[in-house]
Amino acid sequence: KRHLISAADLTRDDAVLILDTAEEMARVADRPIKKLPTLRGRTVVNLFFEDSTRTRISFEAAAKRLSADVINFSAKGSSVSKGESLKDTALTLEAMGADAVVIRHGASGAPYRLATSGWIDGAVVNAGDGTHEHPTQALLDAFTLRRRLVGADQGLGRDLEGRRVTIVGDILHSRVARSNVHLLTALGAHVTLVAPPTLVPVGVEKWPCDVNYSLDEVLAASDAVMMLRVQRERMNAAYFPTEREYSRRYGLGGERMAKMPEHAIVMHPGPMVRGMEITAEVADSDRCTVVEQVTNGVSVRMAVLYLLLGGSDTALSAAPARTE
Ligand code: CP
Repeated sequence: KRHLISAADLTRDDAVLILDTAEEMARVADRPIKKLPTLRGRTVVNLFFEDSTRTRISFEAAAKRLSADVINFSAKGSSVSKGESLKDTALTLEAMGADAVVIRHGASGAPYRLATSGWIDGAVVNAGDGTHEHPTQALLDAFTLRRRLVGADQGLGRDLEGRRVTIVGDILHSRVARSNVHLLTALGAHVTLVAPPTLVPVGVEKWPCDVNYSLDEVLAASDAVMMLRVQRERMNAAYFPTEREYSRRYGLGGERMAKMPEHAIVMHPGPMVRGMEITAEVADSDRCTVVEQVTNGVSVRMAVLYLLLGGSDTALSAAPARTE
């Protein structure tokens, strides 16, 4: 059985296979009929215990483009609010015949628990767990970087060797940052994290990346700058810098963007807080790939579902590795 729980489980070859498959899937989106019959008769459940716009909608679009049946489950409005456990929710989904469960949960480790519990038979895909990982976000970010920095046509089979990616903001609470550090370094990129000292995780020195406390110092040497939202909902106000101070030191506006090399791009996983980590001028500029990242997310999630549920034996053998 195969699951996608963590970007840290992916080898370079796994990641390149998913990105190359996503390029094939992107071609489907360019056709007048944006659908493949590959997953006809299979059921994908979106099990969301935390809010989401992009991830939930793009998994739904991806599954539908592969002709799967899709069940959307949101904890709000379900029997979870009456106290039902993850186990009983999972057993209910299993009884309905879920072939894949895409789970977002506030607790780090919930997707791993689901994948290893024996409560369900289907594949488990982590759509973001607590502050741990968000592997499909990192895959769509890598796909966007490869297209923009290597080129769509020349990109196939290629990694991000030598590309310099700077990730800026609330690293402490960011599952996007963790997944990207694992995946982008596996693909050969050099990652630098930039954050206020209070928003850097303990033990970061063991991560395969650099840390810098000055955004201005690293901009000129970045091929891409990925801005992150400050996740106030996960933090104690006592250790948060003031909004004004944060924007002044770590926000990206036009003046700072001008210090980046001409070819460099600005990324953001969304949702953005305009005026806080990124100005409207930057968010709406040609160099900002936030909308392109959403489009790419559908192709990447199609590739993941295809490789986990419907691909050939060759594809499956190279699919993500965390197993029971
Ligand atoms: N990037 C991301 O995970 O966005 P959502 O929370 O809207 O899914």
